[in-house]
Amino acid sequence: MSSPERFVLEADRLQAGYGDRSIIADLSLTIEQGNITALVGPNGSGKSTLLKTLARLLSATKGAIYLNGTDINCLSTTVVARQLAILPQAPNVPASLTVGELVEQGRFPHAGPLGMLHRQDHSAISQALSLTGMTEFAYRSLDSLSGGERQRAWIALALAQATPILLLDEPTTFLDIGHQLEVLDLLRFLNRERGMTIILVLHDLNQAARYANRMVVLKQGKIVADGIPTNVLTSVLLEQVFGVRAHILADPKSGTPVCLPYACISTES
Ligand SMILES: Nc1ncnc2c1ncn2[C@@H]1O[C@H](COP(=O)(O)OP(=O)(O)OP(=O)(O)O)[C@@H](O)[C@H]1O
Ligand SMILES: [Mg+2]
Repeated sequence: MSSPERFVLEADRLQAGYGDRSIIADLSLTIEQGNITALVGPNGSGKSTLLKTLARLLSATKGAIYLNGTDINCLSTTVVARQLAILPQAPNVPASLTVGELVEQGRFPHAGPLGMLHRQDHSAISQALSLTGMTEFAYRSLDSLSGGERQRAWIALALAQATPILLLDEPTTFLDIGHQLEVLDLLRFLNRERGMTIILVLHDLNQAARYANRMVVLKQGKIVADGIPTNVLTSVLLEQVFGVRAHILADPKSGTPVCLPYACISTES
């Protein structure tokens, strides 16, 4: 099966899980070029599982993923890594690595036969460090960083890979509100100015509504809502998917929906 070219990533009747346990069942999703898509849903709903499967970090047990119209299983690791970078939810790496050494790894898919880094690689690394505000941390070891600084180092690694598609699993975790907005503004800049296609998992529904063109809501491994934020972020959805009562207002600046959650239905008196 081949996809129309504007679909840079496509999941076709995807099934994925761990061992005998199926988490994602019969899920189909198309990602159009140049969009910011927010994946939202309760804890354990399968967001990370879906993201990892889309990036081929986890094999699908059934169905297929198409990257630019080609079955991702037919592509080499290098070809996939030049197209798609992923920031996993809980990446682990030898803590003794410095930030610079970590970010350098993003250039491996572009390096020559002996793994030599060239001028354009060093320039991509410097740019990724600068965009994430990590330049001054380049020689610091990862285990000496705060949670938020480490998170930004991982984002720098994904940016250094310089791919047209970027998948990020909770990129704002550990970040204070200022750095959260800085990262989200950076992603918006990369999307608008460089045409990057971005899929990100977010728990903050208001940020998802403000920064994404499209929200995809997962519940128990299935897509239960998919569309523009105004259509997706409703009080009915919040009740059905998250079990909370909430009012929805319009952001006075952007017009995007803002939810004010009031009560968890299960604990309401
Ligand atoms: N490595 C694993 N082995 C076995 N089960 C797993 C593994 N990783 C996740 N799961 C299970 O798969 C289900 C979906 O997990 P997943 O991490 O995809 O959820 P999520 O939507 O990303 O949740 P969160 O918002 O908490 O990050 C959960 O029930 C989880 O316990
Ligand atoms: Mg997760």
